[in-house]
Amino acid sequence: MEKNKLQAAGTGADPQKAIALVRQENQRFAMEAGRARRAFVLTFGCQQNEADSEKIAGMAQAMGYEMADAPEQADLIVVNTCAVREHAEKRALSTVGQYKHLKAQNPELVIEMCGCMVSQEHRADEIKHRYPYVNFIFGTSALQTFPALLWEWMNTHRRIFRSGAEETSVAEGLPVRRESGYRAWVSIMYGCNNFCSYCIVPYVRGRERSREPEPILEEIRALVAAGYRDITLLGQNVNSYGKGTAAGWDFADLLAAADKIEGDYILRFMTSHPKDAGKKLIDVMAASTHIAHQFHLPLQSGSNSILEKMNRRYTAEKYLETLDYLREKMPDVTVTSDMIVGFPGESDADFEETMKMIDRAGFDMIFSFIYSPRKGTPAARMENQVPEAVTHARFDRMLERQNAIGLEKNRELVGKTLRVLCDGESKNDPASVCGRTEGNKLVFWRGDPAAKGSFVRVRITGAEPFALQGELQSD
Ligand code: SAH
Ligand code: SF4
Ligand code: F3S
Repeated sequence: MEKNKLQAAGTGADPQKAIALVRQENQRFAMEAGRARRAFVLTFGCQQNEADSEKIAGMAQAMGYEMADAPEQADLIVVNTCAVREHAEKRALSTVGQYKHLKAQNPELVIEMCGCMVSQEHRADEIKHRYPYVNFIFGTSALQTFPALLWEWMNTHRRIFRSGAEETSVAEGLPVRRESGYRAWVSIMYGCNNFCSYCIVPYVRGRERSREPEPILEEIRALVAAGYRDITLLGQNVNSYGKGTAAGWDFADLLAAADKIEGDYILRFMTSHPKDAGKKLIDVMAASTHIAHQFHLPLQSGSNSILEKMNRRYTAEKYLETLDYLREKMPDVTVTSDMIVGFPGESDADFEETMKMIDRAGFDMIFSFIYSPRKGTPAARMENQVPEAVTHARFDRMLERQNAIGLEKNRELVGKTLRVLCDGESKNDPASVCGRTEGNKLVFWRGDPAAKGSFVRVRITGAEPFALQGELQSD
């Protein structure tokens, strides 16, 4: 990969200088053109990427850009990519392909790609050779170099490819432009050390590193003071939070401290890894004031032999122990999971084990994925890749069974009155408003969309596999 000229600036360096330089240039443009430059940020992938995009938008705003609603109106387009499955990569590439004609119409348009997909060398090379209208790219660990790279591009018009893979620092204090005024992401750690054999994340997000607790707590305090009601702490494996920090806290310590912050808010976290989601954490949750009784605990497979090939380092039995303890301490807990169907070598018998676990676990909801081989991961080199037709049939069976279980779980809530954070008018049914329960379940009711961003009480009157209906309570 090409080395850019701003090595001296370093990704750990303060981006403020570059932000000021770009802002000056954008002010000059605005004086001449009679309008501010506009930026458009498009995000693929998980919450981690959404959180990163809010920082990209925050930096763009600090550099004097206004936010555009559509790529056609933009002077700067940033595409933040995902690599977790092939489908995510294809979507990002085809979207960027469509931007070629925008560049033809407006040669001044700057197109930039970042995130997990372009953190892979083979994809960076592909962009370099097949997408010549992409001006610069930077990897996930080089997020804070965005202003410096943009400034360099403005001055040299030389394409820049910056992986940032060598970076191990944690950037604090970047500007953030949050999408919502009442739900917020707070990244507490970056990267992953687990190397599950199917997963690209450790390769594209680098080694695990945690923020110190104090800046995290400070961020949560500021969010609560600003009226945020639903705060999610983010990391690929939050249970191993704290390693290498000066404070030496673990995740349960961090949660317990965060829970002491006074205010009217819900605290959530994701994602937990079953191998180290321990009793201490569950005890802290059960005793807390603000932590939602909600747990996302990805199982991936119910077969111990597949779990071993996945390098997950727990068994189905160990998983159930954690689940049982969780329900013992919090009988009202909502539990969701991730499942992969068609991992290499998954036999009919392995899949039956998974189906048994789905019945036994009684998840409120699962996110199920068809296995997608990722270049460079051990699983992609394994023999016995499962034929597509078999995988699809298994996937459909799993979904059908889980939908029935999800519906049963939701029916148990009928007649109960729940605290719900209102999200305003429903997109699908403008006559309804919608919101999320503490368990993060979607609820629809007739009411005033002006309650958006506030907690309301809703009595549940109906259930579907993925949603609830209710009536607003006026108490
Ligand atoms: N760190 C989290 C999330 C990782 S990605 C965790 O450990 O749970 C989210 C989900 O995508 C994973 O839980 C897994 O179910 C799925 N996934 C990851 N790699 C995949 C692949 N190669 N093919 C299909 N699904 C995959
Ligand atoms: Fe991927 Fe496993 Fe890390 Fe999750 S814990 S990001 S599945 S390697
Ligand atoms: Fe997330 Fe996709 Fe990267 S799931 S961590 S954006 S590969």
